[in-house]
Amino acid sequence: SRYLKTTDFARDYCYYVSLGSTNTIAKQIAESSNAPEGTVIVAEEQTEGKGRMGRQWVSLKNKGIYMSIITRPKIPINRAPQITLMLATVVARFISNHYHVPAKIKWPNDILIHQKKVCGILVEMSSDLDSIHYAILGIGINLNQTAGELNMIENQHYMPTSIRNETDIVVNRRVCFANLLLELERAYQAFIENGFTAFKDLWEEYAYSIGKEITVHTHSSIIQGTLLGITDQGALSLVGKDGETQVIYSGEIVL
Ligand code: BTN
Repeated sequence: SRYLKTTDFARDYCYYVSLGSTNTIAKQIAESSNAPEGTVIVAEEQTEGKGRMGRQWVSLKNKGIYMSIITRPKIPINRAPQITLMLATVVARFISNHYHVPAKIKWPNDILIHQKKVCGILVEMSSDLDSIHYAILGIGINLNQTAGELNMIENQHYMPTSIRNETDIVVNRRVCFANLLLELERAYQAFIENGFTAFKDLWEEYAYSIGKEITVHTHSSIIQGTLLGITDQGALSLVGKDGETQVIYSGEIVL
């Protein structure tokens, strides 16, 4: 696209009018070819958009950005969860700055405006014990869905919204896509070079619930406490009623 100013991201890309899931196609491409770092799969519509934990990501035609970026990050496997946090930070800052609405991160991978979900991130990886073969960075953003269209999206997990629904701005999707890709590429490079530490302060600036009482579901328990911030490793730090500080590496905040 003539709007694109990136050097790696989307230099190679596959554009689909309609497909099942950009993440699924991106995985197939990453496995069956030496697709270069930054290859982007983008679709106008997904018929089987995927969310985390087997959930669905409703992807109405011509209304949002549904894309997956193929990367081959040379970072230790224990840093992989930080990729999601870095992406969430970039998207929250992007939406806040470009559309003048308070976009907030709900750890680990949701972006909310006024407590409704505008963006979801799904990073899928292939790795062995010490290295990552590839990581698919899946990003879905609701841009121009109207209130009526959002009402028809049934979801037990969150209330959906779109940038248009919150701001009345009709988003130019091509410009949005090109600008976002440039910010993502810069952030990705900074993250690979300097680690998540470079994003920690920004993450806290855009976090939904710093200083608030939150509930976190982990695979084994439900934890409540006041959110203090995020560690250099990307774990949540909470203080419980008993005054004890706890650090949580994986799970999700529930509203
Ligand atoms: C979530 O909220 O749980 C994550 C949603 C991720 C949606 C994006 S849209 C592009 C990419 N392809 C998919 O099938 N899912 C991600």
